[in-house]
Amino acid sequence: MRLRFTLGLLGGLAALAISAHAAPPAGRLLASNCFQCHGTDGKGPGFDRLAGKNANEIYEEMKEFQAGKEGNGIMAKHAWIYTDEQLHALAGWFSQQNLTSRSAR
Ligand code: HEC
Repeated sequence: MRLRFTLGLLGGLAALAISAHAAPPAGRLLASNCFQCHGTDGKGPGFDRLAGKNANEIYEEMKEFQAGKEGNGIMAKHAWIYTDEQLHALAGWFSQQNLTSRSAR
């Protein structure tokens, strides 16, 4: 009985800890779609580095890709689906990534 109570309590605490965990920022969530080529932190692997780039610049580049001004390449395909709000979230996320840290969040 006592063991069951303790286990129940631990389970409850674990659930609390999980639910208390903050949701990832919107930009980070959206950056999952960029992972394969730019990394979710904008640092890799081999494609244009987005980490630490100016947020307005990233936003403007995405708008150009969206408008087809950069041709019909891979980025046109990846840019067209996002709203302006989402593009700002993405640009903000990548611009805030530290260029020197190696963490792959
Ligand atoms: C399948 C690979 C791929 C994916 C996924 C991808 N990109 Fe790209 N991205 C590229 C390539 C290749 C370029 C080089 C430019 C080009 O296509 O003209 C690029 C260029 C860019 C540039 C311009 C950078 C510069 O310095 O000129 C930005 C900004 C960018 N990508 C943002 C994103 C974002 C945001 C996402 C996710 C929503 C994303 N990309 C997903 C391949 C990818």
